[in-house]
Amino acid sequence: MPALLIRDLVQVASPPGAGAPLRGSDLRRVDVVEDAYVLCRDGRVAAVGRMAELEPLDDEVAELDGRGLVALPGLVDCHTHACFAGDRVDEFDLRASGASYEELHAAGGGIVSTVRATRAAGEDALRTALERRRGAMRSHGTTTWEAKSGYGLDRETELAQLRAVAAAGGVATWLGAHAVPPEFAGADAYLDFALAEVLPQAAEIAEAADVFLERGAFDAAQARRYLGACRDAGLALRLHADQFTEAGGIELAIELGARSVDHLEATGPGGVRALAASDVTAVLLPIAALVLGRPQAPARALADAGAAVALATDLNPGSAFGESLPLACALACTQAGLAPGEALAACTVNAAHVLGRADRVGRLAPGYDADVVLLDAPDWRYLAYHVSGGDVALVVERGQVAWRR
Ligand code: NIG
Ligand code: FE
Repeated sequence: MPALLIRDLVQVASPPGAGAPLRGSDLRRVDVVEDAYVLCRDGRVAAVGRMAELEPLDDEVAELDGRGLVALPGLVDCHTHACFAGDRVDEFDLRASGASYEELHAAGGGIVSTVRATRAAGEDALRTALERRRGAMRSHGTTTWEAKSGYGLDRETELAQLRAVAAAGGVATWLGAHAVPPEFAGADAYLDFALAEVLPQAAEIAEAADVFLERGAFDAAQARRYLGACRDAGLALRLHADQFTEAGGIELAIELGARSVDHLEATGPGGVRALAASDVTAVLLPIAALVLGRPQAPARALADAGAAVALATDLNPGSAFGESLPLACALACTQAGLAPGEALAACTVNAAHVLGRADRVGRLAPGYDADVVLLDAPDWRYLAYHVSGGDVALVVERGQVAWRR
């Protein structure tokens, strides 16, 4: 593969430094090089610098004209439910007329209705649907992504979801505790089954496990049991918590050494303080808060307190049907008080940290994977500033053009 030189860029912008996660004042710092180039070799970033300092290159080099464009690290979506069949457009309509997400869930709709559609679809159709969404994510600048199971809740479909995610190049998370499927009398009976019958094989494909800790889903004791067994099977831990109620998810995440706790729309000052003093990353999902008409998570308070903050789409058919991390950045800045630099770090280096990949992706610096997003914009802050999005002009993955507008 010849080297790739992206030249004459207006700017190259990247989170600074080498460690992860970024917190406090480091979270909003951005390294910006004006009139710049990015050189990619063997799938890695070989150099970033000013055009005026570009040394003559003697090997074979393909060139990309970066005039009028800014380069950012490929975006990292650390929380999606991209692998599902069907849709929930009818529920969207009902919610517009006043039905709530929790009421629909309690009435056997919501997550369980997507479980029905996903079980019925079969693995090939599931893979086709996932590929389509993966293409949409890429067109919004996402080059590294996670996706969860949780729409099978039986052995065959959960494993089919995890296989599909891994086959499509995603990071697979076993969300075996998403909801209690209708064939089980209760959460404990379902967990008996899931831990005995699904976990052993899920742990061979997935990198992490996740649980929905919420009224109407799993309580803290059930979540502790599920996550403890998953940790013993070698999986990293994640939690959906504090979406509607504070039910002990942050304390449990800290107790178990989880990678992240995600949602946090209902988190109060005590939870903010506890997270800031911990190694657990707070994953903000502002599209879900927008779609469900919920208050945004206390992003400003978390960042000010020194918490590690990440940002993700939560792409799913119920609460967040959207693949755009730039939209998540726009909402984080306009509705939740983050600065553009904080939003950039949150969906690059800090999201990579949640996925255990911060040494490889999330920065434009020598040695990192050559995953580059080019925005057709005069300033990198258009990532969050341009609410309608659409500025992603070209996406490079591992040093090769993967998508262009
Ligand atoms: O993160 N809250 C739980 N799970 C997803 C929604 C899944 C669905 O509604 O299908 C979430 O918002
Ligand atoms: Fe989610």
